[in-house]
Amino acid sequence: MKNILVIGAAGQIGSELVPYLRNIYGESHVVATLHSTKNPDLMNAGPFEILDATDANALAAVVRKYNIDTIFNLVAVLSAKGEADPYLSWRINMGVHFNALEIAREIKGAVFTPSSIGAFGPTTPLDNTPQDTIMRPTTIYGVSKVASELLADYYHLRFGVDARGLRYPGIISYVTLPGGGTTDYAVEIYYKALEEGKYTCNLPAGTYLDMMYMPDALRAAVELMEADPSKLIHRNCFNVTAMSFDPETIAAEIRKHIPDFALDYNVDPVKKAIADSWPNYMDDSAATKEWGWKPEYNLEAMTADMLEKLRARK
Ligand code: SER
Repeated sequence: MKNILVIGAAGQIGSELVPYLRNIYGESHVVATLHSTKNPDLMNAGPFEILDATDANALAAVVRKYNIDTIFNLVAVLSAKGEADPYLSWRINMGVHFNALEIAREIKGAVFTPSSIGAFGPTTPLDNTPQDTIMRPTTIYGVSKVASELLADYYHLRFGVDARGLRYPGIISYVTLPGGGTTDYAVEIYYKALEEGKYTCNLPAGTYLDMMYMPDALRAAVELMEADPSKLIHRNCFNVTAMSFDPETIAAEIRKHIPDFALDYNVDPVKKAIADSWPNYMDDSAATKEWGWKPEYNLEAMTADMLEKLRARK
């Protein structure tokens, strides 16, 4: 990776991936694309372009202008938001992905695309979910993620595009809030624990989902893109996880720091149905075997760090 383009640089992952990549590869080698001028911090921090990446010609022009060889495409309409507007979800999720793969074909470049636990569905084995298994998701987000995985493999096989990806679990972070996801509660709970000492959860007790702290998610993306291609049996996409918990488990961990923290429930039926169709915990041993994946943060370490970082921001 010499010249990198990050599409979706203002989002939950993008806002942290851009500085992470600049730290490794040098500021001038990482171009951030933003959809609007609403992020002055990101615009002042290094090379950037305002770009609607659903416009294939505009994306291609930016790629050529900066002599880009690697694209990180982080644009996505997440699961719950997608159910409110399936057409928009498909158009954004697949449209940008297609455009990124097409220009990568022309430049003989590499593309990183996150897939998700959302690529699985109710007929998937939900415990210890294998790398290769049944994938019949019941959300438009999941349908677009499965299609994205297949399209990325197709571009690799047919055109030699160096397409790679991860099936991320819920990502927990303190810089930029996620928007419209089913796993968002696991981020909001930390903010509310500090601000109000209580949280009303929209998923019921007993809903186990895979999760990961942002530092592991960033490192995983770079380690995968730097991995020796001859070792990759899978490419799009690898199961990766760091922990699995339900709302009661994360609340109990928060109470070790904020003893009076109170959790109650107001279940959102749409989010509950989505969460019920996703794995309880994934088997990520293929990622470990093929490129050495290993998480650093468990629930305990993540909770201590999240609360410390959020307190410091006040
Ligand atoms: N965090 C995403 C969501 O909840 C899953 O990848 O939609």
